[in-house]
Amino acid sequence: MTEEKKLYIETLGCAMNVRDSEHIIAELNAYENYKETKNPQEADLILINTCSVREKPVAKLFSELGVFNKIKKKSAKIGVCGCTASHLGKEILTKAPFVNFVLGARNVSKIKDVIYQDKAVEIDTSYDETTYDFKNYRSENIRSLINISIGCDKQCTYCIVPATRGKEISIPSKIILDEVKKSVALGAKEIMLLGQNVNSYGNNFTHSQESIDFADLLTKVSEVEGVERIRFTSPHPLHMDEKFMEVFSYNPKVAKHMHMPLQSGSTKVLREMKRGYTKEWFLEKALKLREMNPMTTIGTDIIVAFPKESEADFANTLDVMEKVHFEQIFSFKFSPRPLTAAENMEGAIDPIIASQRLEKLQNMYKNSLRTLHQNQIGKKFAVLVESFENGNIYGKGENYFTLKAPAKDGSLVGQVVFVQATGVSKGMLEGEITT
Ligand code: SAH
Ligand code: SF4
Ligand code: F3S
Repeated sequence: MTEEKKLYIETLGCAMNVRDSEHIIAELNAYENYKETKNPQEADLILINTCSVREKPVAKLFSELGVFNKIKKKSAKIGVCGCTASHLGKEILTKAPFVNFVLGARNVSKIKDVIYQDKAVEIDTSYDETTYDFKNYRSENIRSLINISIGCDKQCTYCIVPATRGKEISIPSKIILDEVKKSVALGAKEIMLLGQNVNSYGNNFTHSQESIDFADLLTKVSEVEGVERIRFTSPHPLHMDEKFMEVFSYNPKVAKHMHMPLQSGSTKVLREMKRGYTKEWFLEKALKLREMNPMTTIGTDIIVAFPKESEADFANTLDVMEKVHFEQIFSFKFSPRPLTAAENMEGAIDPIIASQRLEKLQNMYKNSLRTLHQNQIGKKFAVLVESFENGNIYGKGENYFTLKAPAKDGSLVGQVVFVQATGVSKGMLEGEITT
C-alpha cells in the first residue's frame, strides 16, 4: 500500500455534486490511500467540486483558488472538478496557472489518473460512466445517494447543466438495485435517487436493452428488503404522468414530498424558458397530487426576473404560490449563463426590480410558513430518526417536515417511529412519540 496522503475536498452545488465527491473520495482512498482532512493546510491534494448554475459561485472560485494556493503545503496539488471545470476547461489553467488539473463533471472516474498528469484537462461531456464500478464511500449513514441517470436532454433556455453534464443516459436498473442493496447492508434506511430529470428514467440506455420507466424503478427499489424510505430529485413537471403520480402517492415507502420546479407561473415566460408546460397544466398536476394523498407536501424552484418578465408575469408566479401553498421554495434571481439560449436575450430586468421581486416572493413564503406548520399539528407522522440531542430525537416525517420529540436515549436513531405533532417551535414541528 502506498503511503497515506491527505485529501481536502470542498463541494458546491447540488446533490449530484455531493455524490460525485463521494465517488472521488472513494476512488482516491481505494487506489491511492488518501484520507479526508478538513484542514486544507495539511492536505496533499486540494479539490474544489464546482457548480456553474449561477454566476456568483463561479466568480468566487478564482479568489478561493488564490487563497488555497497561498496556504497549501508547498508540494500539495490543486484540482478543479465539477460543472465549472466542464464549462471553463483550459481557461481555468490560464486564469489560475498554479492549478494542476481540471476534471469535468462527467469524468469523475478519471480522478486517479489526472492526479499524476500535470495540467490535464479532462472535460469530455460525452464520456459515459454509467457502468463504471466506483469504489464505495458514503458521507452519511442513514441516507444514501444513488445516481439513476447522468446528463440532461432538456434545453431550458436559462440552464447551463446540459452543457456541463452532457446528454442524458440512464443507468441500468440492475446496477441501481445492487447499489441499493449494498447501501442497506451498510445501514442505510433512506434511498435518495438522483438525476437532473428522474422521471424520464429509462428513455435512453447505452448499456441495457430493458424496458422500464421511473415508476417501475420506484416500485423495484421499494421492494428491496431494508429500504424504509425513498426520495428522489429532481422530477420534471412535464413528465408527471398518471402512473408516476400513483406510485408516488400510494407506495408507502416513497416519501410524500414532491419537488416540482415551477420556475415561473407565467405561461408566456415558461414558453420563453422552454419548459414545455403552462401555468394551468402545472396547477392541475400540483393540486391533483394533494388530492391523491393529503399527506403530500410540495417543494419548488422559482426564477424571478427572467428577461422580459413583466409585473403581470410575476403576479402569475405569486398566484401559483397562493394556490399551491408550497411547503418549500428555493428562489433565485435570473443569472445569465454562458452556453445557454437566454444568455443574451433582450429585455434584461433592472437588478433593483429583480431584487424587489425576489424579496416580495420570499416574504410571501415566509409569511405562509406559520400556517403551513399549523396545518400539520394533530397529524401523526412516521419519523425516520436521524439523531438524538439533549433529550430529543430529531428526524423527518414521511412528507419531509422535520420533527422533534422527547426520548430517553439515542436507541431509536435509524428507526421509524410515530410522532403526533403537538406544536411548532423555532420553525420545527414538535410532538410526542406515539404508537
Ligand atoms: N434539473 C433540475 C434543476 C437543476 S438546477 C430541475 O430541472 O429541476 C437547480 C435550479 O437552479 C433550477 O431549478 C433553477 O430554478 C435554478 N437555475 C438554473 N439556472 C439558473 C439561472 N441561469 N439563473 C437562476 N437560477 C437558475
Ligand atoms: Fe436544467 Fe432544465 Fe435540465 Fe433541469 S431540466 S437540468 S433546469 S435544462
Ligand atoms: Fe449541480 Fe450546479 Fe452542476 S446545480 S448539475 S453542480 S451546475
